[in-house]
Amino acid sequence: MKALLILIPALGLLSACANSSDSNRRLQTQVDSLKKKLDSTYRPGLGEFMMGIQEHHAKLWFAGLDKNWELADFEVHEIGETIGDIKQYCTDRPEVKSIGIIDPAISSISSAIKQKDEEAFKKGFAALTDGCNNCHRDNNHGFNVITIPTGLPVTNQQFKPAK
Ligand code: HEC
Repeated sequence: MKALLILIPALGLLSACANSSDSNRRLQTQVDSLKKKLDSTYRPGLGEFMMGIQEHHAKLWFAGLDKNWELADFEVHEIGETIGDIKQYCTDRPEVKSIGIIDPAISSISSAIKQKDEEAFKKGFAALTDGCNNCHRDNNHGFNVITIPTGLPVTNQQFKPAK
């Protein structure tokens, strides 16, 4: 009887252990399947982020030429945000290490915009474009040459300041 009194709680403990290792296994299976899902979740690649930057680069130019400083400021921030996304999401791309190459140009454009200084803006924009190309050249993408835009990137947006 005494033995039984000891055995019953011991069995209870054992089955609790078994239960918890069962639930551990179940949790692990869930974690594994979530990991798999996460790995196969769509994330834009570096080239797609770059196409976004290309669009903002072009819009930035026309906003600056038309002295729409608010839009220019917006576009330069969009470039900065996309660079942040690249740093966060393209960690598998060693080229991203050189992305800081365009930081000085971005900050000189930003201060030109603040001062509404068209000449400084144009200079900063040329430096930014050189930065794009320097990074492309440094990373075996020298065939991809960015230029100062010669035509509007879109025809459904006004670059002059809103009235
Ligand atoms: C890390 C340095 C780096 C900087 C700075 C950089 N790029 Fe890139 N860019 C790359 C790399 C690497 C690729 C190739 C991406 C790929 O493999 O898909 C690329 C690709 C591109 C593409 C090709 C996308 C396509 O399919 O046509 C464009 C456009 C582009 N960049 C524009 C720019 C512009 C505009 C700037 C400057 C505002 C810039 N890039 C700055 C590294 C850089």
